[in-house]
Amino acid sequence: PTTPALSSTPPCAELHLHIEGTLEPELIFELAGRNGITLPYASLDELRARYRFTDLQSFLDLYYANMDVLRTEADFADMTRAYLRRAAAAGVRHVEMMMDPQAHLVRGIPLETSVRGVCAALAASEEEFGISTALIAAFLRDRPAEEALDVLEDLLAMEAPIIGIGLDSAEVGNPPEAFIGLYRRAREAGLRTVAHAGEEGPSHYIEQALDLLLVDRIDHGIRCLDDPELVQRLVHEKIPLTICPLSNVRLQAVDSLAAHPLPQMLEHGLNISVNSDDPAYFGGYADDNFRAVQEAFGLDRAQLGLLAANSIEASFAPPGRRAELL
Ligand code: ADE
Ligand code: ZN
Repeated sequence: PTTPALSSTPPCAELHLHIEGTLEPELIFELAGRNGITLPYASLDELRARYRFTDLQSFLDLYYANMDVLRTEADFADMTRAYLRRAAAAGVRHVEMMMDPQAHLVRGIPLETSVRGVCAALAASEEEFGISTALIAAFLRDRPAEEALDVLEDLLAMEAPIIGIGLDSAEVGNPPEAFIGLYRRAREAGLRTVAHAGEEGPSHYIEQALDLLLVDRIDHGIRCLDDPELVQRLVHEKIPLTICPLSNVRLQAVDSLAAHPLPQMLEHGLNISVNSDDPAYFGGYADDNFRAVQEAFGLDRAQLGLLAANSIEASFAPPGRRAELL
């Protein structure tokens, strides 16, 4: 279902988006059919009935299971193209998308297949959808750091067109500190760095991501509000936080949309943007997230404009492209 772009939403950049989290139920069935895979669900409704999550892990279990339908380069390209089409309708003009190469490697899909498939769709995006793009290789923090480093070396060796690395998957019990070597290597290779921190995990994971991984942006970071000194630091250093309101509600990182800390974060002067995370799973693309917070908090045009401008300024797009979008 396509919802029209919010007329009051200015052009924005999507900075927190997992491409595998855009795999819609209809496409899961289509790809299963094309690849001769028998799904453990008899119907779309039976699959959709599984989209009730109690925490991050309950979502990750379904997210990784559904990826099984992604087998060929064309599958990855079709998924990516479907997202870009929907993002264009949402008013997204630039996207920095994460992909999880390890999640495909562990089920026998070569790095070349997943990366080439996603990149084929990205390469046509500006012309086809007017969306400039960048790719971030995200590493799974619940798998060994040595494996992540091996995969990064392989990505560098194949000259994969990535601009940066990220850190995602199960957060609690998997602190950033294990990945210091990975991030050092990425920086040496000229890559930008982001990491999920303070989504479900404690606020000191945000500090670790800044002090040990030296990240350029924090993905989520909502738990920073547990530590007033950290909030002051984030404000002072203008650290971008990529906020995903509908994701936080659906994964019960917050009790309800009304209880989401976005208004307090704006009040503190934190550098936040609005993003969709895994839109096929959490009930909404960028426009749906903007609309949800606008309705829940009665944001005015200036506040919506600030959120959109923050997304463009916090992006890794070249200065010329950022200026064009602001
Ligand atoms: N992988 C995909 N979506 C994620 C999220 N919201 N948090 C951590 N890992 C993820
Ligand atoms: Zn995420």
